[in-house]
Amino acid sequence: MIALATTLRARVEKLKGLILSGGRGTRLRPITHTSAKQLVPVANKPVLFYGIEAMAAAGIEEVGIIIAPETGDEIREAAGDGSRFGIKIEYIVQDDPLGLAHAVLTAEPFLGDSSFVMYLGDNLLQGGIDQLVDEFRTGGRDAMILLTEVEDPENYGVAELGPDGGIIRLVEKPSDPQSNLALVGVYMFTSQIHAAAKAIEPSPRGELEITDAIQYIVDGGGRVEPHIVEGWWKDTGRLDDMLEANRLILGALTPRVEGELIDSQVEGPVVIEPGAKLERATVRGPAIIGSGTHLIDCYVGPYSAIAEDCVIERAEIEHSILLSGSIVRDMPGRMESSLLGRNVIVTQDDRQPRAYRLMLGDNSSVGLP
Ligand code: TTP
Repeated sequence: MIALATTLRARVEKLKGLILSGGRGTRLRPITHTSAKQLVPVANKPVLFYGIEAMAAAGIEEVGIIIAPETGDEIREAAGDGSRFGIKIEYIVQDDPLGLAHAVLTAEPFLGDSSFVMYLGDNLLQGGIDQLVDEFRTGGRDAMILLTEVEDPENYGVAELGPDGGIIRLVEKPSDPQSNLALVGVYMFTSQIHAAAKAIEPSPRGELEITDAIQYIVDGGGRVEPHIVEGWWKDTGRLDDMLEANRLILGALTPRVEGELIDSQVEGPVVIEPGAKLERATVRGPAIIGSGTHLIDCYVGPYSAIAEDCVIERAEIEHSILLSGSIVRDMPGRMESSLLGRNVIVTQDDRQPRAYRLMLGDNSSVGLP
């Protein structure tokens, strides 16, 4: 009997990757008015790259990336043909963000009859996916989903498990959640998911929901295996989650000071990239300072990620993300828990010290009261 079961569990040989980087990104406006949320950096690296690297580390060689017409070119330019990650990337345009299952259907010509790992391009999963992918490769499952406990299940796709640990029901953003187990944005599917995505109807919000497609497989007697993830998982779709992801990644930083320090101090785990220059500045880690960035008479506090070519002068910044080319100058108050887009200019018109929390889109210029 055991021998028979073993022969039936044919190993999954062909495994592709699918990363979803289309969507509207309404929860991260105004940043997403001008650029893709998947390219917002976490610890100075685009969120999307963590997903691509996780795929590469799991031995997946061919990855399709779903892009939207509005932000697709920027993503193509950033990730390229995949050679820098040691994989091959193909781009697939989804004309409208009609849901995660719609994205799967859009990718069907690329996926063919391959099994695949699907990764939401704005998600971060500690510890990668190697082990889970290895397990899925052993075969015998129609799909694998990852779950984690959350405090606000009404904001997620939620799984209800039976006493045997099997899936009973999956519901997208339930108003009355029956469990606190949310679906993490990493899924493993066999090609069966295409038939399921074709069989379902759009949800009340007008999307083809991946939860409904998986439910369809469960209802048809398919084997969908849930896994509770051990490390942290972050969906960076909102500002606070983005800052939290930044905090978690920076928390594991290996210190490295390669820029120029003049009468300046760094404390704790800090990365100063080559070409960065500090003059009478203090950086308290965990923090990262990008190349070409100039810090003058300023303080950069824990959990800050300052991208390339920024200027911070006579100012204090803590627990914030600055995209490239931003300037923060003459701020006696402290800027905290903020996200500044590219080429933003912030100054303070009066000299009263106070705390500021900002979220500014690319190219904004603000003189604070
Ligand atoms: P979501 O964050 O659920 O959707 P969204 O990007 O439209 O954001 P918001 O709710 O703030 O408007 O999407 C998760 C990931 O999947 C994200 O990387 C975008 C991507 N996506 C697609 O590629 N196609 C789609 O049809 C949808 C809905 C999302």
